[in-house]
Amino acid sequence: MERIKNGPIAIFDSGYGGLTVLNKIKKHLPHYDYIYLGDNARTPYGTRSFEVVYDYTLEAVKKLFSMGAHLVILACNTASAKALRNIQQKDLPNIDVSRRVLGVIRPSVEVVDELSDTKHVGVFGTLGTVQSESYPIEINKLYPNIKVSQEACPMWVPLVENNEFGSAGADYFVHKHVDRLLTNDPLIDTIVLGCTHYPLLLKKIKKYLPTHIQIVEQGDIVGESLKDYLIRHPGMDEKCSKEGEMHFYTTEQVEKFKQTAGIFFDGDLNVEHLVL
Ligand code: DGL
Repeated sequence: MERIKNGPIAIFDSGYGGLTVLNKIKKHLPHYDYIYLGDNARTPYGTRSFEVVYDYTLEAVKKLFSMGAHLVILACNTASAKALRNIQQKDLPNIDVSRRVLGVIRPSVEVVDELSDTKHVGVFGTLGTVQSESYPIEINKLYPNIKVSQEACPMWVPLVENNEFGSAGADYFVHKHVDRLLTNDPLIDTIVLGCTHYPLLLKKIKKYLPTHIQIVEQGDIVGESLKDYLIRHPGMDEKCSKEGEMHFYTTEQVEKFKQTAGIFFDGDLNVEHLVL
């Protein structure tokens, strides 16, 4: 029988934000090999239609499989919201039943019931994630008694990508959306940061939130959940190579990727250009 070739775990994002997720995954699973793909040439996904996000994400997943990955993590909330279910149910059976694609929404919603006393939960996300209703649907599948309110924050991603997340200008947009969410439901006591970029705005978000409100940051949760997944799926774990190596790919120009990636990830990055 032909031996299956081991491969890296692939992390996919529309751009740079998934690096915040990779940072934490690496902390929980340091010995594994990773390839990171940022579709920077076509970012942002947050404002794009369902069909386009699905097509782009599927292209990326196929590419990452062809590069040897058996397991792909969609670090992007928008891709997880708009493409994951279709890819899992419709495409994977035709591509390769032994490969897996996982997203970031499910692990993030699993924790909210334990954190919330009032059972009123808020979600910040891109317009695409909010319009997909993925968070309310997934939360209510597990916890039908939780009331979910969402707030789309279209300016937050550009503020982070333009390195303005610490500036006074960012305060205006953070305050505005925090206020809107809490006005919409003053009983919220738990908020999910449903976008890869928002951990960089955490300091400012906390500044405008009452201290009793708990914030769900995805990186650690996704890292822990992936670790648990690999323990529960030893067959998949065996197929993941473990040399502690990391390679980065971008659909944009390498130098441009390196300049901005520094906002999200510490250390020197080994980056290559990739065409999807
Ligand atoms: N990575 C996206 C997300 O988490 C944000 C950036 C984008 O809009 O492409 O939703």
